[in-house]
Amino acid sequence: MLEEVTVLAPATVANLVCGFDILGLALEEPCDKLTIRKTRRGIRIINLDGYNLPLEPEKNVIGGALLAMLEETREEIGFEIESTKVIKPGSGIGSSAASAAGAVIAANHLLKQPFSTSDLIRFAMCGEQVASGAKHADNIAPAIMGGVTLIRSSFPLDIIGIPAPPLFVTILHPQIEIKTSNAREILKKEILLKDAAIQWGNVAGLVAGLMKGDYELISRSLVDVIVEPIRSILIPGFDLVKTVSLETGALGGGISGSGPSVFMLSHDLVTARKVEAAIIQAYSGLNIDFHTHVSTINNQGVRFI
Ligand code: HSE
Repeated sequence: MLEEVTVLAPATVANLVCGFDILGLALEEPCDKLTIRKTRRGIRIINLDGYNLPLEPEKNVIGGALLAMLEETREEIGFEIESTKVIKPGSGIGSSAASAAGAVIAANHLLKQPFSTSDLIRFAMCGEQVASGAKHADNIAPAIMGGVTLIRSSFPLDIIGIPAPPLFVTILHPQIEIKTSNAREILKKEILLKDAAIQWGNVAGLVAGLMKGDYELISRSLVDVIVEPIRSILIPGFDLVKTVSLETGALGGGISGSGPSVFMLSHDLVTARKVEAAIIQAYSGLNIDFHTHVSTINNQGVRFI
């Protein structure tokens, strides 16, 4: 063992309602902790949490990402990783992406930074493939870059950081599990042109609203006519949560990634806390355990501690 480094890798919200697989943002909290050491060969994963995630590198998100990196590394090396997950797997706030993003950032540091941000995102996407069967980058990119990110193209990668005004995110996490792979399988493979036109109007509106700091435009662009109508059926109380949040002053929101978490954006912290209180009151009637929290946007992404 030559050296070690420890990072905190943040939770993320993917899709941002209208931007399926192309938009995402990083949250300040919660974060996973990963400590990585350089070894002579192979990948050894040590879980320091109770989630019992697979230890075989090919079946583990961290392993999938680091194997992709090692394939392009000239040095004969390996890694030992201690992973402490705080972001519950299957929660819809980028648990797998945090593991993959934290691993590649830390490993690149130990290798003295041979890889670009784009390379690291590409490697981490191989970790996402282990988790969900799809190499989507919309959680990975904000986890690595921080802030709000736009995936203009996945193959080849073209990722743009989108400047955003202050925003506060209220998260509801119902304690049910939705597998991203299942939530992807149920989506329609073809959509109507008229729906596509509504959707790309909203995506463009959201990006313009974020860049202009136009909260009204952000609010009216947070509409999804393609994915939400299908996936929301998997989340008990989804319509109720959305209704009470909007009534309480949220700008808008929807399913976080593939769910079950739901997120709402607010202009200020006071409103975000009121939205949280309204969600707690509404959800308490449903007989489902849940957690809520409020976070700002994390503009840094994975950070060293
Ligand atoms: N864009 C992905 C999906 C995110 O919606 O399936 C999964 O977290």
